[in-house]
Amino acid sequence: MRSTKARFFFMAGALGLLVFHLSKDSDQPKTVQLNTDVKEIRIHKSLSIKNYSYVYSWPKCQQNITANNITGFTTLPQNIQDFLYYQHCRHFPMLLDLPEKCGGAYESNKVFLLLVIKSSPHNYDRREVLRKTWAKERMHNGVWIRRVFISGTTGEGYEKERLNKMLELEQREFSDILQWDFSDTFYNLTLKQTLFLEWMERNCPKARFLFNGDDDVFANTDNMVVYLQSLNDNDGSKHLFTGHLIANVGPIRAAGSKYFIPVQVQESNLYPPYCGGGGFLLSGFTGMIIYRMSKSIPFLPIDDVYMGMCLAKAGLGPASHIGVRTAGLHIAAVTSDAYDPCFYKDILLVHRFLPGQIYLMWNRIQDPDLDCSSSRTQLHDNKL
Ligand SMILES: *[C@@H]1O[C@H](CO)[C@@H](O)[C@H](O)[C@H]1NC(C)=O
Ligand SMILES: *[C@@H]1O[C@H](CO)[C@@H](O)[C@H](O)[C@H]1NC(C)=O
Ligand SMILES: *[C@@H]1O[C@H](CO)[C@@H](O)[C@H](O)[C@H]1NC(C)=O
Ligand SMILES: *[C@@H]1O[C@H](CO)[C@@H](O)[C@H](O)[C@H]1NC(C)=O
Repeated sequence: MRSTKARFFFMAGALGLLVFHLSKDSDQPKTVQLNTDVKEIRIHKSLSIKNYSYVYSWPKCQQNITANNITGFTTLPQNIQDFLYYQHCRHFPMLLDLPEKCGGAYESNKVFLLLVIKSSPHNYDRREVLRKTWAKERMHNGVWIRRVFISGTTGEGYEKERLNKMLELEQREFSDILQWDFSDTFYNLTLKQTLFLEWMERNCPKARFLFNGDDDVFANTDNMVVYLQSLNDNDGSKHLFTGHLIANVGPIRAAGSKYFIPVQVQESNLYPPYCGGGGFLLSGFTGMIIYRMSKSIPFLPIDDVYMGMCLAKAGLGPASHIGVRTAGLHIAAVTSDAYDPCFYKDILLVHRFLPGQIYLMWNRIQDPDLDCSSSRTQLHDNKL
């Protein structure tokens, strides 16, 4: 469930906004096998740019036929059936890896903010614009920002090959893609998230903070750095998980919904509190705790709720930033340009931006001549 409230606003035809204002406020060893199968190696070589010695292969995960026995199985939608058949599959071979992204596991504390962006293969235009705007790898305020897109595969046959080839080309130029050989569908996002955390434990365990989000958001990463630096008692080694907090909601039982969760998948009518998956911030510490917890929690196909379940199991909770306003820009939008950069200078994240809008907004808020003396007042009024 991306965000119940935000979806409501989309349906209402308004701009769904997650507005965060800047204010103070393992366990078991991995049973990986080094791939020694010649054919497999050939496949990996054709798909990856460098012959990393880190290419692992897992035995192909088998469909769980016994899922057929679940009451009412045949009446469930195909994607839920797929979920139940493959829910237990947690390891997939990597097609594109970046073991040196954080300078190696031991040096990874030099990465202050790792941007982890869920992107499916065909979203080339989104990745392209993010690379030159808010997800640019750079030093800001004296600390490093790094970027990875996380992806599975889509399509079959030639289409799948073409898309993989495109990611391979992007990797060659930008070195910013982690790709696993699983089907990149909505109900596999929890799998994608967990595969990322597994990668992080191996390659970037000491990154201070993570921004975890979608490729269709406008994220003010400069502000994120400033906000995270203002947490005087947390350098990433303590709990932090903050975003658009959603509490007291439960599974949607309507079979037609994108977020449909039948009782066969989850019986309880209540989800634990969680942060909407469009984008949230967490510490490296919390990321590693979530990963550890995930090992003993069966997957729920809604990724952001699943994060909340892992937190709950660890006795931790998600937080809402004190300045979060989900409807903060609505009133302003009626009387003025909803894309006035002054409204976006102070926020951390806004959901649903098109690539062109991201390009324009990022450049406008960087403009040293931007004068927000009048519009700023307006935004502050809305916040009261
Ligand atoms: C590719 O990686 C494998 C496994 O680490 C290694 O044995 C092999 O020599 C490498 N091949 C090349 C061409 O570097
Ligand atoms: C469950 O599924 C298995 C394998 O398909 C089958 O052999 C078995 O009879 C089923 N059990 C029940 C209780 O239906
Ligand atoms: C297969 O599905 C059945 C029915 O949901 C479940 O009881 C069993 O634990 C599953 N097996 C695996 C390996 O996940
Ligand atoms: C998740 O990915 C696996 C591997 O590609 C696939 O077999 C399964 O059907 C996918 N699950 C869903 C719910 O799409």
